[in-house]
Amino acid sequence: MAWKNRDVVSIDDFSKEDLEALFKKTDEYEHSYPSGILKGKIIGNIFLEYSTRTRVSFEVAAKRLGAEVINLVAEYSSIKKGESLYDTLKMMDIYSDLLVIRSPIEGTARFASDVCKHPVINAGDGYLNHPTQAMIDLYTIRKLKGRLDDLRIGVCGDLRYGRAAVSFMFGVAKYSNKIYAISPAQLSMREDVKNKLTEIGAYFVETNSLEEVLPELDVLYVTRIQKERFPDIAEYEKVKGSYKVDLKTLQNSKRDLIVMHPLPRVDELSYEIDNTPMQAYFKQAELGVYIRMALLSLILVGE
Ligand code: NCD
Repeated sequence: MAWKNRDVVSIDDFSKEDLEALFKKTDEYEHSYPSGILKGKIIGNIFLEYSTRTRVSFEVAAKRLGAEVINLVAEYSSIKKGESLYDTLKMMDIYSDLLVIRSPIEGTARFASDVCKHPVINAGDGYLNHPTQAMIDLYTIRKLKGRLDDLRIGVCGDLRYGRAAVSFMFGVAKYSNKIYAISPAQLSMREDVKNKLTEIGAYFVETNSLEEVLPELDVLYVTRIQKERFPDIAEYEKVKGSYKVDLKTLQNSKRDLIVMHPLPRVDELSYEIDNTPMQAYFKQAELGVYIRMALLSLILVGE
């Protein structure tokens, strides 16, 4: 499907061909990019939840290509006076050429894409969808491993509330890989997520032992426990600190294992890994700008 004017709501909406076109454009932009291609365009950032990388890298991506960025700061907006999400979206749609939205509520980006006439990019909503993070993660693997198929991929941590982990699994499931879903029982995948993986034709196994599967892995994707999404803080307290990936944990890994993480990390991923060849999480953050540049250009200009 053509990229021009497209909404980016879920990684499921994109075929392997769509993704390949995006990755090709990203390869090109990593090498050199047309700094004025988005001149005159305005990107509207609506972040209704905390963010560092996603918000900043969308802003950097837009500015590198010559666009201007406006940021709705929820704390100082009329949302605080009781304005509805619908009206807020309508206003941002009037003022911008493309909207980037993050929200704690599942389905917000789909709703925004229905009510806005300009394209909408989901910068993470609820516990399921974070499509641009999944695109970054796939691109990082393609770059560091030279392929997207035939890999053994461990996804470790909060698979219940973590949209980055879930969207990543939906992404890698499009290719022929073996997924190891590694988590404490309380943080295991939801039934709807498992059903979806089965529907896509994914090969996956669930385990709570990283140690057992580690020697098999080519990629280990670690995620933070999503404290803010637990309906009951007492439930969070029970699993808090229940896993930590450090050099000792990784001692029986393949020599060329890469360790990924969407970041932010809290206590689940040791700083010890930062200066080893396994570290791929800062690379993800770096490549994220190029993926987002390629996305903005494909959607707003079509090339
Ligand atoms: C993630 C998110 O917001 O879903 N961060 C990100 O965008 N890189 C992961 C997280 O918050 O743990």
